[in-house]
Amino acid sequence: MNFHVLTLFPEMIENGMGTSITGRAIEKGALSVNAVNIRDYAFNKHQSVDDYPYGGGAGMLMQAEPVYLAWESIAKNIPGGHPRTVYLTPQGKTFDQAAARELAREENLILLCGHYEGIDERVLEEIVTDSISIGDYVLTGGELAAMVVMDAVSRMVPGVLGNEDSADTESFSAGLLEYPQYSRPQVWHGKEVPEVLMSGHHGNVDAWRREQSIIRTVERRPDLLKTADLTNKEWNFVRQLKKKLKEEQQAGEDEQE
Ligand code: ADE
Repeated sequence: MNFHVLTLFPEMIENGMGTSITGRAIEKGALSVNAVNIRDYAFNKHQSVDDYPYGGGAGMLMQAEPVYLAWESIAKNIPGGHPRTVYLTPQGKTFDQAAARELAREENLILLCGHYEGIDERVLEEIVTDSISIGDYVLTGGELAAMVVMDAVSRMVPGVLGNEDSADTESFSAGLLEYPQYSRPQVWHGKEVPEVLMSGHHGNVDAWRREQSIIRTVERRPDLLKTADLTNKEWNFVRQLKKKLKEEQQAGEDEQE
């Protein structure tokens, strides 16, 4: 996977992506990250890339031409027509694991980070193929959002994670949250590791973990169940859990009255 990031702060991208698991993947050659400084494509002697919005209003806008030239310098070297170009914006589609999986199929991804109050709409119309938001809040720029997207996509790229199957056993892969995990010591602050995990019986361990995943998802993120892949027996279990939760809630409310 080759990431190309159009940004006013290339060092932020290089430092962030050069650290930890993505950093190791870059060293191994499973990933490449090329941060392109949009300011290098400014066309005036002050190297400014922003200007006032027509019609007035607060703040400055990134101008179309430097963004376009920076994009073109990358796009012209990517074979196969108009390359996938992601604009990070709170107006985009909310990012999720399915989007990460889908983007990971690309050989090259261009990510465009905005600053100031936004970017001239005309260049967005010409170059952007996907607009992505990482959540309903406003960041000072697109760099952190681009790194969130690149990090999640990287995990799905073969050779990035040490253990090939770990990308798919964690939260969201089956539409469920991950089960709780425990390491040594066996007792900590008086709390024991669940006995089944010490039994060495893999079948029982798997069944317990699956059950815990379902319980967590019902309690914490019931919205995820809409797309979860469960057996009939498991759906019955979900119904029981939901009924129990509702009764507990009702009992709590009655107590308050
Ligand atoms: N730029 C500013 N806020 C953002 C957000 N929430 N997601 C993606 N890009 C952004």
